[in-house]
Amino acid sequence: MAGPGRGNQPGGAARLSRCLRLTATDRGCKRRSFALLDARPGQRLLDAGCGTGADAVALAGYVQPGGHVVGIDSSAVAIAAARTHGQGLTGVRFERADLAALPSPDACFDGVRTDRTLQHLAQPEIAVRELVRVTRSGGHVVFSEGTFAGPGSASTQTRRTHQAPGLAAFLPLLLNRSGVVNIGIEYSEATVDAGPEVLEILGMRAGPLKVKVVQITGIVTR
Ligand SMILES: C[S@@+](CC[C@H](N)C(=O)[O-])C[C@H]1O[C@@H](n2cnc3c(N)ncnc32)[C@H](O)[C@@H]1O
Repeated sequence: MAGPGRGNQPGGAARLSRCLRLTATDRGCKRRSFALLDARPGQRLLDAGCGTGADAVALAGYVQPGGHVVGIDSSAVAIAAARTHGQGLTGVRFERADLAALPSPDACFDGVRTDRTLQHLAQPEIAVRELVRVTRSGGHVVFSEGTFAGPGSASTQTRRTHQAPGLAAFLPLLLNRSGVVNIGIEYSEATVDAGPEVLEILGMRAGPLKVKVVQITGIVTR
């Protein structure tokens, strides 16, 4: 299901996410995505495409006491790293699963999020349907998706992911058709000095790297 770019090869997406997490834009967007999710004590949350689990672990702190966060990812390597990350912590667990067929009953989460994951899918609409299915009525969905571009890149992450350029237009429509209301869209943009590892993953020869993030939110109704 993952796309063909280097960022999607085993470890590539996780490496990219680890490097980009160091940027101020990225930290701000993650904090914003937690706020948009309206995470509170006692809630059950899903971080879909959780990578190595840092966000799910951080979110677990928001839902204590009494809540829990499930992180799912299709990569066995990512899930193994996430389990190590979450070892001994209360209220967080990780499962290997595909977004196209979530192993969860209907309406079992108070909120679901993705972070730079839908953009890697050939058919994000299937994943969105699944994410809405597992969210209770009144629960929040928060999708943060990003594009990267820089000088000296013949082929950017935008080109190598399937849907990134169109997601900002496509996701709200899809959510609307799925009975999601209060749909919101927020954009952030920054130029960051990417290190050699990020540039190598993205197939770029030189920075600076432009990071654009779109955050799409809504409330599920039945
Ligand atoms: C760019 S990483 C983002 C990871 C994490 N959300 C973060 O922000 O650090 C994208 C993640 O989506 C996962 N992924 C890609 N296709 C998937 C699918 N069909 N089902 C579940 N996870 C998937 C990849 O394995 C990868 O860990």
